[in-house]
Amino acid sequence: MQICRCDVNIVHHLPMVPYIPTRLLKGLKVIPVLILLYLILYYLLVRFPDLERPRYRPQRIVNYVCPSSDHGQEYEHYETFSQNESALTESRILVLLENVLSRHGRLITHMLNASKCPYKIDTFSKNLPLLTTSTHGRYSTIIIENFNRYLNLPKWNRQLLDKYSQDYKVPIVSFLPGRAQFFSNSKVRGMNLTIWHNQKALNIRFSPSSIIPYIARPNVILPFPVSDGREWTLFEDSINFESVVVVEDIEGKRRAAVIRDKGSVDGVEKIIFGHNLTEWIIGMGFIDALRWSTKCRCGCHSLDRFIQIDIDDIFVGARGTRMTSDDVEALIQSQDKLRNRISNFSYLLGYSGAFFLHGDDLEDEGDRMIIEKAANFMWFPHMWKHNHPQDHNESFLESTMIMNKQFGEMNNLRVPFEYAISPQHGGVYPVHTALFNAWKKVWGVKVTSTEEYPHFRPWGKRKGFIHRGIEVLPRQTCGLYTHTQLFHLYPGGIKKLTSLIEGGDLFWTIALNPISIFMTHQQNYAHDRLAPYTFENVISFLECWTRFRLRWEDPISVADRYFHLFPTEKNPIWGNPCMDERHRSILPPTLNCSNLTLPNLLVVGPQKTGTTALSSFLQLHPDVSTNRILENTFEEIQFFSGENYEKGFDWYRQLFNNGSSKIVMDKSATYWDSTEGPMRAFALIPFAKIVVILHDPILRAYSWYNHLVARNESIVRGLSMEDVLNGDTPAAKKIRSRCISGGRYAHHLDRWLQWFPPSQFHLIDGSELKENPSEVVTNLARWLQLSPFDFQSLIKFNPKKGFYCKIVSGHSSCLGASKGRSYPPISPILSSRLCSIFHNDNIALHKMLLNHNFPVPTWLSSSLNQC
Ligand SMILES: *[C@@H]1O[C@H](CO)[C@@H](O)[C@H](O)[C@H]1NC(C)=O
Ligand SMILES: *[C@@H]1O[C@H](CO)[C@@H](O)[C@H](O)[C@H]1NC(C)=O
Ligand SMILES: *[C@@H]1O[C@H](CO)[C@@H](O)[C@H](O)[C@H]1NC(C)=O
Ligand SMILES: *[C@@H]1O[C@H](CO)[C@@H](O)[C@H](O)[C@H]1NC(C)=O
Ligand SMILES: *[C@@H]1O[C@H](CO)[C@@H](O)[C@H](O)[C@H]1NC(C)=O
Ligand SMILES: *[C@@H]1O[C@H](CO)[C@@H](O)[C@H](O)[C@H]1NC(C)=O
Ligand SMILES: *[C@@H]1O[C@H](CO)[C@@H](O)[C@H](O)[C@H]1NC(C)=O
Ligand SMILES: *[C@@H]1O[C@H](CO)[C@@H](O)[C@H](O)[C@H]1NC(C)=O
Ligand SMILES: *[C@@H]1O[C@H](CO)[C@@H](O)[C@H](O)[C@H]1NC(C)=O
Ligand SMILES: *[C@@H]1O[C@H](CO)[C@@H](O)[C@H](O)[C@H]1NC(C)=O
Repeated sequence: MQICRCDVNIVHHLPMVPYIPTRLLKGLKVIPVLILLYLILYYLLVRFPDLERPRYRPQRIVNYVCPSSDHGQEYEHYETFSQNESALTESRILVLLENVLSRHGRLITHMLNASKCPYKIDTFSKNLPLLTTSTHGRYSTIIIENFNRYLNLPKWNRQLLDKYSQDYKVPIVSFLPGRAQFFSNSKVRGMNLTIWHNQKALNIRFSPSSIIPYIARPNVILPFPVSDGREWTLFEDSINFESVVVVEDIEGKRRAAVIRDKGSVDGVEKIIFGHNLTEWIIGMGFIDALRWSTKCRCGCHSLDRFIQIDIDDIFVGARGTRMTSDDVEALIQSQDKLRNRISNFSYLLGYSGAFFLHGDDLEDEGDRMIIEKAANFMWFPHMWKHNHPQDHNESFLESTMIMNKQFGEMNNLRVPFEYAISPQHGGVYPVHTALFNAWKKVWGVKVTSTEEYPHFRPWGKRKGFIHRGIEVLPRQTCGLYTHTQLFHLYPGGIKKLTSLIEGGDLFWTIALNPISIFMTHQQNYAHDRLAPYTFENVISFLECWTRFRLRWEDPISVADRYFHLFPTEKNPIWGNPCMDERHRSILPPTLNCSNLTLPNLLVVGPQKTGTTALSSFLQLHPDVSTNRILENTFEEIQFFSGENYEKGFDWYRQLFNNGSSKIVMDKSATYWDSTEGPMRAFALIPFAKIVVILHDPILRAYSWYNHLVARNESIVRGLSMEDVLNGDTPAAKKIRSRCISGGRYAHHLDRWLQWFPPSQFHLIDGSELKENPSEVVTNLARWLQLSPFDFQSLIKFNPKKGFYCKIVSGHSSCLGASKGRSYPPISPILSSRLCSIFHNDNIALHKMLLNHNFPVPTWLSSSLNQC
């Protein structure tokens, strides 16, 4: 994929000076003549730059023709799914790969990424990953890269997998690649199914009697071997199985290339593909298979596909590359053509007024023409001089926007929507607040779009977010940039462009995204008009092979639609812009990556386990620092778990910019049980070490309760701990959830482990911390590779307080009154009550700790056999 560099060189191309060897010059003594020649050439080329760069006529390349124009009657076999059918499992997909580097595995995950389907990758190791929780299944579908691996699983694992599939109604989706030098037919082990390896497939089509096709239009026939040398495994087309994709083999016999095993024999539903995802037709089958197998929790959108095409850089661009009046006429015609096929379609044109009439004579005529015909189009503001917003302050941005606005008003450019685009994505992400403010002030902007969030690559992972009331939509790549202007110079050649259109990335972008916003540039509509060709043809291809309804809607409505479809994307997820080369190049000068400090240690909690004591002890070490304490904030920053997250990356990083130590710590005990905390932390500081204190959850719950009592909170007034556990009142329920839920350690640890690798965790036994803090802290410091330090002499038991305190300048310095309170010991009845509440979770925790080779706290070993 090409990198989009939207900031074209504004400077006019100067003609090249002809190179003449100096030996010749000396001999001839014709320097004055040469200078004259140079001047004449220069004059000619600058006055008539058309001589320098020929104009290319519109290309007449054959358009895509659908092999079957008869679409037959509407196909309606696909299943619809109700909410409760999916309740048995989470929506995540388990992907079992040959190995993590497998090429085909990358295609699979690319498809899942682009469909926004959550998944977990694993490989075939001795043990299958954990498939269930105590209440439900973890995965809605199991994708197995190589079906042979499934057939050859050790008996025990095979039984486990099959049982899971049966119990939770989870289908297996898999691929059976052709085996070289293996031509004859054979039976699949354990299934009454004959297959042929290494066949060429003719006349490929989706079967109209299968329930799998949804986006795919059945009965359109792809006539020939899809491409030479691409061998398929063909399946017997028998009544025992449902043929999803039917083909003819070389002798004209009807076979299947994709089948569904309804599980009538072993109760395990399977969809098996006879080829890999390199064929787009198999890709379509795969997407439809996932919709069905996940019971509509992956890729389950309506058939509406919204397409927006922005044309940026109107008036911007080097002389010789811009639109002439013919091109403007062609643009209007192209818009009319697309209107017949995309309902309500309109191109959106973005202008930078400062460069009006900056082309050659033909192009200036084009500029005048587009102004004359401006009412045919809808417009949006680019930046007056194509300025990069991140380099400017708010007042400058405001004044430059006002100039562009005045230009638009003077020339009757219709700007009907509160939509704008920033040159080179600058200031949108990474966020430059001045741009957001100026946009709102001058244009009332409500919606914009960018390719940069969270990253340019992989393109399948781009997302939207809302910041300061502006909805930012993801922009998709279509292969058309300022530098892709001419067919014969298209990177990779015209074949490459055709492959993008006919089942390639451009096709997939529209197929997988209910809403696609494409950015093109004026230059793509000039000369041989690459853009109209590209879009008209991808639409022909989509009309042929899919059942999509192509639509256009204004950007404001589209944005509302987008965040309605993907509500979880509303809140941005802050990443570290210094870790992305493209982000680094569009940072405001106030952010200096060479002295950026972010925490590399998170003490995540849980609350009431001694996290404050631990972090204050650790800070005795000279190489450990923590955040600055802001006025009017909590003792903790609570960035990843609460409202402070909205304040953004810049706010957070400024709390740590007071000189750097080896270990920079953020201790916020609310991170532990925050649903989004682990994901957000990983997005910003993926290499951070994570410290968790596992204190007996029974004691932790009791301590929480006593904490509320000691604070005389109205919510606990008059309630004993037993009342809290038994009560039905809202107050009792609320306290119960605070005391109990954070103590379900397995549940929360599992979520952290979904993001951070086990090697980055350090688990501390809460009772050890209480009894022997200096040893615990010494161990932690060693794990952090800090230099040896004598914690023992600085952490001393304080008999008056009844707990350990640090020694500062020879005096005992204890935590505030709210820490380490004493209260009556827990009664045996209450203790056993709590014990049974935590029992299942403790068992799961024990299993999880052993699984990851984490140490098991002593309280856990002893509590397993109790209650
Ligand atoms: C889902 O709900 C419908 C009606 O609400 C019910 O008829 C159906 O049996 C339920 N399906 C499952 C799998 O529970
Ligand atoms: C897909 O299969 C074809 C034909 O067997 C093979 O040439 C190609 O390398 C495979 N692609 C991947 C990504 O495995
Ligand atoms: C899919 O997304 C994950 C997580 O963002 C990323 O690491 C991976 O490279 C992506 N895979 C592909 C093939 O795009
Ligand atoms: C196997 O499949 C064939 C049809 O392909 C069928 O006639 C036969 O009865 C099947 N055998 C069993 C044991 O199901
Ligand atoms: C096209 O736009 C009109 C007017 O805005 C609207 O009423 C109509 O529903 C739109 N049609 C489609 C198919 O979106
Ligand atoms: C904003 O930038 C302009 C020029 O870039 C400068 O003249 C002006 O003083 C700046 N304004 C503020 C408030 O910093
Ligand atoms: C960034 O900081 C480094 C050292 O702290 C300094 O040398 C460099 O000049 C700074 N760069 C900018 C753009 O301020
Ligand atoms: C880091 O760089 C920024 C921008 O150049 C500067 O304002 C800040 O003072 C620097 N901080 C340190 C600690 O050097
Ligand atoms: C860094 O922050 C700590 C804690 O707020 C403070 O005590 C210390 O003086 C700060 N250091 C610098 C160099 O600002
Ligand atoms: C707790 O609060 C109540 C109501 O505000 C007050 O009457 C009572 O004296 C308080 N108890 C203590 C021990 O502070």
